[in-house]
Amino acid sequence: MTVRIGWIGCGVHANEMLLPQLVRHDVEIAALCDIDADRLGRAGRRYGVAPERQTRDWKEVLARGDIDAIGVAAGPSAHLEVGIAALARGLPVFAEKPPAATAAEAQKLADASARAGKPVVLGFMKRYSTANRIAINLVHSSEFGAPASFLGEYMTAPTYFEKDPDYTGFYLHHCVHYFDLVPHLMGEVVALGARRQEIAPGKLLLHVDFRFASGGIGTLVMGTHQSRGTPMEWWQVMGDHRRVEVRNLHEVRYFRAPPFKVDRADATLRDGEDTLVWEPNFTVAANEDHKGYHALIGDFLKLVRGEKADAPLAADGARAMALLERMIAAAK
Ligand SMILES: NC(=O)c1ccc[n+]([C@@H]2O[C@H](COP(=O)([O-])OP(=O)(O)OC[C@H]3O[C@@H](n4cnc5c(N)ncnc54)[C@H](O)[C@@H]3O)[C@@H](O)[C@H]2O)c1
Repeated sequence: MTVRIGWIGCGVHANEMLLPQLVRHDVEIAALCDIDADRLGRAGRRYGVAPERQTRDWKEVLARGDIDAIGVAAGPSAHLEVGIAALARGLPVFAEKPPAATAAEAQKLADASARAGKPVVLGFMKRYSTANRIAINLVHSSEFGAPASFLGEYMTAPTYFEKDPDYTGFYLHHCVHYFDLVPHLMGEVVALGARRQEIAPGKLLLHVDFRFASGGIGTLVMGTHQSRGTPMEWWQVMGDHRRVEVRNLHEVRYFRAPPFKVDRADATLRDGEDTLVWEPNFTVAANEDHKGYHALIGDFLKLVRGEKADAPLAADGARAMALLERMIAAAK
């Protein structure tokens, strides 16, 4: 079934990342909306949406009788307002992160979704990037056992957050990703602490520590003082005599418990005990999205069609926002 989408918000992220992946699926963009006429017109031309299907008022999109689902990437307050109105119309929603500006509002969206019996899928694509999916599945496998610890860093540069010297943008648009990814990997968080170090205005470093319900522990480092021209992301989960490591979303290493090899004439690499490594082949002539947007949108469309999918939902967004607010309070 071709899913007819009403899309709201034609900014940088929608234009460059979401809409290109959306249209690789079996969808029709039945209506397009942005309050900015230039952006709306440009996105309409780029994605072939006729002018009569373009509007600057998102309520007109919701009022149409020819859409099956709503997509919104317009910022936290619009995600909440559009999301609640779309659910009231009985429409499933794909909303970018963050779901709202506060944890209390994000909880309202989750409650509205539960009441309407319609999903709100959130843009937590870190669960879906190929490397993370491989690593998450390894960590959740019975072979891995109970994950004992998480250690990771997710950095960015100051330029992106210059307009928010209070770091609101950094928290809401950057940090929130890992408050979904970390509990998705490690289970519920029972305790959280945080420390901050501001090395200069706009250059903030945060160290966050976790205790998980499983007994596991974790440390997450996030900051705004590294160049976006360098790799920004690294994480590792350790279990008993095994660990999984993901470097910059393009390399997964699974270490197990091989014997020493130095004094072995028959030293070799053995299935089941030596290290496994995965990297993508960037020379393949295929339109692959290793960042995860295509796969995430695919799961949203499955839910729209009434099929099963384990997607990040509004309740996960409320959990992520609550953890984010705990971190901000703890770091003060
Ligand atoms: N998951 C990711 O990797 C990722 C990456 C970047 C951005 N994002 C998220 O996507 C969202 C948008 O980010 P962006 O960088 O594209 O911002 P942007 O400012 O470039 O785009 C937002 C667009 O929404 C429009 N808009 C705002 N309010 C509206 C309303 N009420 N009705 C219609 N249009 C409205 C604006 O005019 C603008 O064109 C943010 O919430 C951001 O956190 C997610």
